[in-house]
Amino acid sequence: MVKCRICNADTELFLSLGDMPLANNFLNKKILEKINKGDEKEERYPLELFFCNNCGMVQIGELLPPQKLFINYIYLASNSETIKSHIALLVNRIMHNYLTSKDTMVVEIGSNTGHLLKLFKDNGIKVLGIEPAKNIAAIANRNGIETKSVFFNEKTAELAKKKHGMADVIIGRHVFAHIKDLDSSIKGARSLIGKNGVFIIEIPYLVDFLERNEFDTVYHEHLSYFSVKTLKFLFNKYDMEIVDVERALDIHGGSIVVYIKNKTSNAKISSRVSELIKLEKEKKLDDFKTYVDFADRVFKFKEKILNVLKDLKKQGNRICGYGAPAKSTTLLNYCGIGADLLDFVVDNTPTKQGLHLPGSHLLVCSDEHVLKKQPDYFLLLAWNFANEIIKKESEYIKRGGKFIVPIPDIHIVPS
Ligand code: TYD
Repeated sequence: MVKCRICNADTELFLSLGDMPLANNFLNKKILEKINKGDEKEERYPLELFFCNNCGMVQIGELLPPQKLFINYIYLASNSETIKSHIALLVNRIMHNYLTSKDTMVVEIGSNTGHLLKLFKDNGIKVLGIEPAKNIAAIANRNGIETKSVFFNEKTAELAKKKHGMADVIIGRHVFAHIKDLDSSIKGARSLIGKNGVFIIEIPYLVDFLERNEFDTVYHEHLSYFSVKTLKFLFNKYDMEIVDVERALDIHGGSIVVYIKNKTSNAKISSRVSELIKLEKEKKLDDFKTYVDFADRVFKFKEKILNVLKDLKKQGNRICGYGAPAKSTTLLNYCGIGADLLDFVVDNTPTKQGLHLPGSHLLVCSDEHVLKKQPDYFLLLAWNFANEIIKKESEYIKRGGKFIVPIPDIHIVPS
């Protein structure tokens, strides 16, 4: 029985995605050869989602050691235009609302190569990055963004406080749902922001996850799936409260930016917090049936996408994948899509090119191959960037190419 990581109540299983390789465990040629020869085995772990009837937390069951998942991370912060403009606006809002005094400091958790912190630094704000992946922290430090290669927790927060003083802002974009030790991280954040600072987290929103069938965003690194109501319950345990929340519909399939303060700050609470909790009630997020229905839609998705791909293949079409995000591992492996249906995938991240996807072993090629090979169809695995990618690949479309967009519902562009 899986116990809830927030309230320790019994949870209920509602979705089984099978034994899944680690989403960012891309394979080089040498390792792939060993696997093919049977000299090495690709690690696979069960991937299952559970719902807590008590506090509403949605969570995966299998928690792997973070060292296994994040120490040598292949994920480089996206250079996508969608994300860049979102970050620029977010930084402006934070400066305007929370960094108005002199001598302020921002700490970022999961700071990657330091792109966001640089925007603060350029405005004269002190910055500190916390990035456990050593290879990526090294890039940030080389770029002049001071970055500690440690996991964020109570202990490392104290060390940061001793060395750099209190933080006015701690921000974590798409890392909070990846944190195993929530207790220690929240205590660390609470102490580092003190009475007046703010803890800001950007996470995928459970409402969008359910409504848009985003089952492929489930992978072993993504431990928690939050509603505002559950977050409120969680932070209340630490005498903290949500003072504001914003929806970011076009970020990773629908995200929320949540602003949390110590209760002693006596900050005014935005009406947006209760509005979203009301929305969650309307969407029946506290009803287990909502999750069972979701699992049923996921099962139907698998049948439908396989039929679409097999039909296109039968008609003689060449199909490839577009994007090698972590979620492609879940989508491809859960649905059983491999080399029989897709030739290869393209991705513009240099660290992924030349490697093979976990499980399906499809080769990741550079995005120059879009026009070089001009396949008839691309299965858009990075569907969260659908608008940006479809616009960018106008020449591919002009030459007759098409995209199969799988999420939120399977459709072909241009139709
Ligand atoms: P992303 O959705 O950011 O991450 P996750 O791994 O958390 O699911 O990954 C998007 C992938 O798509 C990333 O590997 C980069 C790739 N990509 C392109 O190849 N071309 C593009 O134009 C864009 C926007 C992304």
